[in-house]
Amino acid sequence: MDKLCVNGPTQLKGEVHISKAKNAYLPLMAATLLATDKVTFTEVPGLRDIRTMHRLLEHHGVEIKEEGEGVFTYDCQKLKSEEAPYELVKTMRASICVLGPLLARFKKAKVSLPGGCAIGTRPIDLHLKNLEKMGAKIEIEGGYVIATTEGLKGTKLALDFPSVGATENLMMAACLAEGETIIENAALEPEITDLGNFLVKLGAKIEGLDTKTIKIQGVSSLGGTTYSAIGDRIEAATYIIAGLMTKSEMTVKGFDPIHIDAVIEKLAEMEAKMEIGHDYVKVFPSELVGTDIDTAPYPGFPTDVQAQILALSTQAKGLSIITEHIFENRFMHVPELQRMGAGITIKGNSAIVKGGKPLKGAPVMCTDLRASAALVLAGLCAEGVTEVRRIYHLDRGYEKLDKKFAGLSAPVERVQGD
Ligand code: EPZ
Repeated sequence: MDKLCVNGPTQLKGEVHISKAKNAYLPLMAATLLATDKVTFTEVPGLRDIRTMHRLLEHHGVEIKEEGEGVFTYDCQKLKSEEAPYELVKTMRASICVLGPLLARFKKAKVSLPGGCAIGTRPIDLHLKNLEKMGAKIEIEGGYVIATTEGLKGTKLALDFPSVGATENLMMAACLAEGETIIENAALEPEITDLGNFLVKLGAKIEGLDTKTIKIQGVSSLGGTTYSAIGDRIEAATYIIAGLMTKSEMTVKGFDPIHIDAVIEKLAEMEAKMEIGHDYVKVFPSELVGTDIDTAPYPGFPTDVQAQILALSTQAKGLSIITEHIFENRFMHVPELQRMGAGITIKGNSAIVKGGKPLKGAPVMCTDLRASAALVLAGLCAEGVTEVRRIYHLDRGYEKLDKKFAGLSAPVERVQGD
């Protein structure tokens, strides 16, 4: 398994260009199952999760062609299977978002239950009970969701929790349902709006994007289009925090800073010096102070940036209390950071960080995508070499991370593992 060797402490220089968002492209690709004409996506990031989604779509019979660097076409004329097999779904729980489109288009779907993952059990009850309200018959058999319908019917749905994945599945199902579907308490993440904009370009009738109430009038079929996803706000936040951790002057470009408003607010509270542009954030060397952070659904502080800002808070003066409200087990980066000398105590779903203790390089282990990013960030400001192992977790969501850091003059080297 490959590893990253980070030789700290270091500073970053110059500009990094952010890739298009993994968490936008995964539902967008699932939505191609609804399209009766060709779909073209551009600037698709080279990520493990994207390759997994391509394998899943090809299993369903989608013809995928690479037309050039990051340009892919998807042809869903000849779909052959409504089954999403365990072997594929178990490696990426986001595969569950093929359930809605398969059911809407083919009136049946057999999708493996995703199972839990490192950060939590991650149930899909909100997806299933609302698809039932739309007229789906749902059975769980042998670890699979088996869904059938005579035809989905639009109705009023109210999500108990603004689940991103449930909102996406229900939006896609509603596009081809009969009549009007109203989704109350819909998730507000920018990736939801991106999916809605794409579906509208395919011919869907959707109102209320960017609000908690999304209204969809079902249509008989959807066409094709060319589309490019929004910039990856989580990747952007990761590099902004890397710049602040290393007291660097550098620029993160190619995303909409409004999409991480809550992160920018918290960094400002920590006295970070930043220049906010329309598609970039520039950071300057800053003496940071600790603050309190509570993760929440959008527009609150994103859980996907919790590990990274926790690593940053180890370098801030004073105390920070970081509380995780979204997932039940999302502090696996903490023991690894403690091994590097960080002063962190876990109390329930809060991490209490005593900032200002210098970090020492050490061999550390990745456990999940964002925890892995936090370890790389810590290595950038730690004294000595940090060996970040099992970086296949990073490859899921950070395109060319070693090359992007090399472009920022940071000594981050990828070493072929055994
Ligand atoms: C999406 O996951 C993202 N993944 C996650 O990013 C992100 O952390 C999460 O949204 C929250 O923002 C993708 O977009 C591919 P949820 P998702 O449904 O859709 C509970 C990353 O690092 N829940 O909003 O699975 C669930 O257990 C990944 O890029 C139910 O209880 O998130 C969790 O506690 C990690 N029942 C909370 O809601 C359900 O039916 C948020 O889940 C569905 C969810």
